[in-house]
Amino acid sequence: MSKPEKAQKQRKRKGLPPMADVADRHQLYEMSVQSVETEVEFLGDTYRSVRGRPAISLREDFCGTAAAACEWIKVNPEHTAIGIDIDGEVLEWGLNHHIAKLDDAGRARLRIVEDDVLHAEVEPVDILTAFNFSYWIFKTRDSLRNYFAIARDGLKDDGLFFIDAFGGSEAHDVMEEETEHDGFTYIWQQGSFDPITHDLSCYIHFEFPDGSRLKRAFSYHWRLWMLPELQELLTEAGFSNVTVYWQQEDDDDDEEEGDFEPATRGEPDPAWIAYIVAEK
Ligand SMILES: C[S@@+](CC[C@H](N)C(=O)[O-])C[C@H]1O[C@@H](n2cnc3c(N)ncnc32)[C@H](O)[C@@H]1O
Repeated sequence: MSKPEKAQKQRKRKGLPPMADVADRHQLYEMSVQSVETEVEFLGDTYRSVRGRPAISLREDFCGTAAAACEWIKVNPEHTAIGIDIDGEVLEWGLNHHIAKLDDAGRARLRIVEDDVLHAEVEPVDILTAFNFSYWIFKTRDSLRNYFAIARDGLKDDGLFFIDAFGGSEAHDVMEEETEHDGFTYIWQQGSFDPITHDLSCYIHFEFPDGSRLKRAFSYHWRLWMLPELQELLTEAGFSNVTVYWQQEDDDDDEEEGDFEPATRGEPDPAWIAYIVAEK
């Protein structure tokens, strides 16, 4: 009998359900995909180096559990944040797990809005983010340019818009990649890719030591956008200066683990991640 089969049998004997049935998909997502401390540090440092002053206000579009907005609130008592997401269920999770842990003063500096990012009416901010490729739901140049223009309108006069992107030859593959975590395996699946449309469907699954699986815990149907297209569309949407931040190689290691720095040339890495910073 395999190890997972043994574990599953043991759980059954004890009257316990399969691990996948009691897993919390939002918690597993955050542990696998997000690193809000690093992200928030990058936002603050980059804003200060581009604008010469600290940023105070942040708007997190497609905020999901609002983990980054809450981290922004936590790191400085002057910070304010707005989180926008269309899905009440994920916002509710964030409310119970992150926002509940803020003190009263922190909660007063945070605003959560359940709405479409295209229609939300909120005050202008220093930094606006659309991370984890969430804006790839916009699949045409017109619809993406329209969202970028809305994001630009949501910024103060010296505001910055941050997005991320991934690419490289592996992004055009149908593949599955597993990452082991304490108590579960995170599985990133690129389920389909169409080179004619650049339609890309991706799924996140989680697997547990008892062999049970949380299949398609999250599904994404995106267009795989390329960095030149994104830079052009941001400029067309009215941003004055658009800069790619490319990940530098760590000096001691060949693995790409270094900081993200402004760059005009990159390497043909088969699996890269980059940020784009667009100045209003
Ligand atoms: C990939 S998750 C991103 C979560 C988080 N921001 C992160 O960085 O990991 C995408 C989120 O976008 C939300 N979403 C999708 N379409 C939206 C829209 N039109 N307006 C607002 N939120 C939207 C989904 O509900 C989901 O929570």
